[in-house]
Amino acid sequence: MKIYVTEDYQSMSRKAANILSAQIILKPTSVLGLATGSTPVGMYKQLVIWYEKGDLDFAGVKTVNLDEYVGLEPTHEQSYRYYMQHNLFDHVNVNPANTNVPDGLAPDPKAECEWYNQVIRQMGGIDIQVLGMGHNGHIGFNEPGEAFELETHVVDLSERTIQANARFFSSSDEVPRQAMTMGIKSIMMARKILLMVSGEDKAEAVKNAFTGPVTPHMPASILQLHPYVTLVGDRPALSKLLEA
Ligand code: F6R
Repeated sequence: MKIYVTEDYQSMSRKAANILSAQIILKPTSVLGLATGSTPVGMYKQLVIWYEKGDLDFAGVKTVNLDEYVGLEPTHEQSYRYYMQHNLFDHVNVNPANTNVPDGLAPDPKAECEWYNQVIRQMGGIDIQVLGMGHNGHIGFNEPGEAFELETHVVDLSERTIQANARFFSSSDEVPRQAMTMGIKSIMMARKILLMVSGEDKAEAVKNAFTGPVTPHMPASILQLHPYVTLVGDRPALSKLLEA
C-alpha cells in the first residue's frame, strides 16, 4: 500500500485529484468508481478547476458510484445522484449516459442491485475506485457485520451511520434506513483503490483497519488484501496509523 500523508484537508484533496487525473490522462476511457460524503468534495472541486483550465477531459470517462439511499429521488438534495451532479457531473464534459448511480426510487431495489452488477461487468470492471471510510470502518455502505457482502446489495444502515449522516438532513428521522451499495467483492475487483481519509475522528478507524485483523467487523480491513491501494490522508486522520 502506498500512503500519502498531507498536512490538511486541502492538500489531501489536491493529492487525490492528482491521482485521479493521472488515471484519466493515462487512460481517457477509464471507468471511475466514485464516492460521495464530505471527504471527496474538495477533490471534485479540484478536478472541476483542472477541467475548466483545459487540463482534463472527461469525454471518454465512465463512472459508477458506490451507493445510493433507498427511497430518495435523484433530485433530492441528499441523494447521492444529486451530490454527484452538483459536485462533478454538471461541471465537466462527462457524457450523462455514462454516469451510473443506483436509482433510489427503483420499485424493486434488489433487482436494481442485480442490474447494477451487470452495468459494472459490461463496463469491463472499475479501473480505480475512490473510497471514503466511516467511523465504524464501513466502506460504501458495507457496515460491520458477520460476513463480507459480495456484490451490490440492499443494506439496513446502522444506528451509528444514521446518526453520522443526520447532519445532512433536518433530523435523524429523515435519514433513510436503507441503501443500495456495491459489495466488498465489487470494491475488491477494482483494479486500483484510492482511499481518502481526513480528520482526527477517523484516526482510530484507520489504524484498526490497517493494523488489525482482516474481519467483516471492520469492513475496510479487507483492503489489506488488495494489491493496489493508495491511501491519501491528512496528518490528523493518519496520526494513529503512523504511530502504530
Ligand atoms: C459514500 C460512502 C461512504 C462514505 C463514508 C465516509 O459514497 O460510501 O462510505 O465514504 O461514510 O463519509 P464522510 O466522507 O462524509 O466522512
